[in-house]
Amino acid sequence: MRLQGKTAVVTGAASGFGAEIARSYAREGANVVIADINEEWGKQVAQEIEGINSGNAVFQFADVSRKEDVEGMVDAAVERFGQVDILVNNAGYTHWNMPVDQVPEEEFDRIFAVNVKSIYFGMNAVLPHFRNQTQSGPNKGVVLNIASTAGVRPRPGLVWYNASKSAAIGATRSLAIELGTDNIRVVAINPVAGETPLLAKFMGEDTPEKRAAFKATVPLGRFSQPADIANAAVFLVSDEAEFLTGVCLEVDGGRCI
Ligand SMILES: NC(=O)c1ccc[n+]([C@@H]2O[C@H](COP(=O)([O-])OP(=O)(O)OC[C@H]3O[C@@H](n4cnc5c(N)ncnc54)[C@H](O)[C@@H]3O)[C@@H](O)[C@H]2O)c1
Repeated sequence: MRLQGKTAVVTGAASGFGAEIARSYAREGANVVIADINEEWGKQVAQEIEGINSGNAVFQFADVSRKEDVEGMVDAAVERFGQVDILVNNAGYTHWNMPVDQVPEEEFDRIFAVNVKSIYFGMNAVLPHFRNQTQSGPNKGVVLNIASTAGVRPRPGLVWYNASKSAAIGATRSLAIELGTDNIRVVAINPVAGETPLLAKFMGEDTPEKRAAFKATVPLGRFSQPADIANAAVFLVSDEAEFLTGVCLEVDGGRCI
């Protein structure tokens, strides 16, 4: 029960990494707000979590590219659970793997809105609550951004997705240095390609050959699984990680070495 008594808002928690992060947080005793645009899947995850930890999960519709929705999901945490201690900016979007000069402008805008501007909205929404917390010490609030190895070791065909994840890493480190004196921690995880619905878009097409080519670049020889990301996500927001800030942790089977 490493997160007992804490309340977390997890964006993009209807699917993939976010859903597993939400489940793991609930298993560790946290209250969880499942924030997503996919209402059907999000409500299912909330129901599953109710089975783990009754009364500890709620679904909140939130498009993280919209300021009102981001404020709404943080308000939902405070109204339902009385506080917010952890924000996981996990919702993400990518264009299909394609040449850089073919990426439509609307896709560029959406990628930066969902992957980067969401962090700006989220930070502004949680900061007043974090600063009002009475507890002392380095865990007045933690923000965890799910960035990507794409922001450190890019692959071709994903230029603007890669760039958005570099921005998320830069934001993590910049926020960490600015908010350290407030005892607010900001950290990130850089997952390698993982078995979620986004994988086909990263590869361009989901074929055995593409899968083999991607896996061949990972020294430990496999894709990441949601549980790999969730295990790191529990540690990084827990009190065990109280001296870690600005860390952008690769969970990548060695891909970035
Ligand atoms: N799967 C990978 O290979 C991989 C690798 C590195 C990083 N990531 C990152 O991990 C994060 C989670 O992705 P995933 O692989 O679990 O994908 P996924 O498709 O399973 O989950 C993404 C979730 O985000 C939600 N979402 C999309 N746009 C949203 C918006 N505007 N507002 C709210 N929710 C929105 C989707 O509805 C979905 O539930 C993303 O930030 C992604 O960029 C994924």
